[in-house]
Amino acid sequence: MTASANPPPIATELLAWYDRHARDLPWRAPPGTAPPDPYRVWLSEIMLQQTTVAAVKPYFAAFTQRWPSVDQLAGAKDEEVMAAWAGLGYYSRARNLLKAARLVAARGGFPDTEAGLRELPGVGDYTAAAIAAIAFERRAVAVDANVIRVVTRLFAIDTPLPGAKREIAVAADSITPGTRAGDFAQAMMDLGSSICTTRAPKCLLCPLAEHCAGRVADPERFPVKPPKKAKPLRQGRCFWIEREGQVLLVERAGKGMLGGMRALPDDGWSAKGDGNGEPPLPGEWETRGLVRHGFTHFDIELEMLERVGGPPGETGNGSWYPVAEIETLGLPTLFLKAARRVLAARQTA
Ligand code: ADE
Repeated sequence: MTASANPPPIATELLAWYDRHARDLPWRAPPGTAPPDPYRVWLSEIMLQQTTVAAVKPYFAAFTQRWPSVDQLAGAKDEEVMAAWAGLGYYSRARNLLKAARLVAARGGFPDTEAGLRELPGVGDYTAAAIAAIAFERRAVAVDANVIRVVTRLFAIDTPLPGAKREIAVAADSITPGTRAGDFAQAMMDLGSSICTTRAPKCLLCPLAEHCAGRVADPERFPVKPPKKAKPLRQGRCFWIEREGQVLLVERAGKGMLGGMRALPDDGWSAKGDGNGEPPLPGEWETRGLVRHGFTHFDIELEMLERVGGPPGETGNGSWYPVAEIETLGLPTLFLKAARRVLAARQTA
């Protein structure tokens, strides 16, 4: 869709608010100034998928310090990047990040259109629109959870999600200006995160209050969500095998759940099912308690078992790492919790 000559009044008012209240974030340029480095914009947008600004900040700082350009990131080893991502979750993002960095380095720079950006691994509709707007000043409609909240309230859209997606995109398009694309996209994000919050929105401070149909109707009703499904609970076992101050870790196979990440050996539980209970080695095992962790579509409960006897045995494709360095080995949060559980049990024994 094309932009009209005059920006919609909502855009003008929102941009004036953003000029005064924009958050100062490490991947951002101040309002009204030249766009930031596309590498920093892309990296931040990938990290911010399903992750909060507060959680992303230290990872963004560490990545940009270690790999200041996309070419440097493209030259990194897979294991280094996977380990640096540990704790941020949704690890397919890290695998796609590297693939995309290598494609971008090979083509000599980032694509500068929404369609071109969408071709990169890990870049979907929202991320392509956000990068096109923020890094390349392209008029683009980036619809994330913040924008869904703001727009469904502004227009009192009460069609339940996800069916309302098109309606929301059309409404968002209708308020998107033809200029200051990056500032507008980020103004919507800031309004959604600081004023138009899920609970107790601050309508009295909102620059768009007089345009807002939802404010009259009860803003917290929007967006209307489909009924919630109960999260399944998966169960599995996880194994601690230690020799002379070193613990056995494996690299998880494939592209699935935590694929490519370093991990404690387990009994094969996955996103689709419970584990088979089998340890990777015969021997004597003692329980060290249960660890619970929530993923998006299920919760997992792992019983921690420590090997306390039996012949050394064949440890397959695992490698040994110092127990004293367990916090810095790049374990995903679930396995870090599991390791802490074993070490805590030892201290109280
Ligand atoms: N969430 C996703 N992208 C963001 C950005 N650029 N600024 C703040 N929050 C965001």
